[in-house]
Amino acid sequence: MEYEKDSRGRPLPNIPLPNEIKDASKQMSIKLYPPEYLFPTKILTSCDGDFNSYRDDMIKWMVDYSNKNETVGKSNLGGYQSPDNFYLEESFAPFMNRISDHIMSTVADYVDDKNIHVDADQLKLCNMWFNFNYKDSYNVTHTHPGCVLAGVLWVQSVEESPHIMFEACDCFARAALERITHESFEPKEGFICLFPAHMPHRVDINHSEHTRISISFNIVQQT
Ligand SMILES: [Fe+2]
Repeated sequence: MEYEKDSRGRPLPNIPLPNEIKDASKQMSIKLYPPEYLFPTKILTSCDGDFNSYRDDMIKWMVDYSNKNETVGKSNLGGYQSPDNFYLEESFAPFMNRISDHIMSTVADYVDDKNIHVDADQLKLCNMWFNFNYKDSYNVTHTHPGCVLAGVLWVQSVEESPHIMFEACDCFARAALERITHESFEPKEGFICLFPAHMPHRVDINHSEHTRISISFNIVQQT
């Protein structure tokens, strides 16, 4: 067989190009099967249809609380983040009853899945805090270590509301081959977005003059 040769006279291997292989496979006995995608990441959203019945009163409560309690510096830059035990305030109880029902029913639905080995009654709310994202504020990329699930309840969205942006845990490795390593969700008032706590996420800059309000929480497995 005659091989092509390189500039120094060495024979070049005859490796077909990918599109030549594809054409050849039509004439040969090579059969392709549908691809399989391993280890999908579950994100679950839910909506409280009665959210508007307590939303405004809850926002008033939160504003009042933020005026009396200093911000806590975590992943937030430029906004207000409450202490993560604010929900234990007695006066918050009426709102907490509604929120905890919404959270725990979403959690129960999340783990009602043949791929998940944790039962709903093993899970509990561990902590919760709220964020006021003023103009130009945002939350840097972070995870919630030590928890199994994390979530956000969107209380007040703004025009062109900054999205929550998730990134694949191995995004740098994936980026060598794949187009999509990040996915975002638009905040919708009264909606919860529940996701694995180890999944890196951030909230983009609020360019609006109005305040974006959200409540974040963690779910742990009881031992
Ligand atoms: Fe977070």
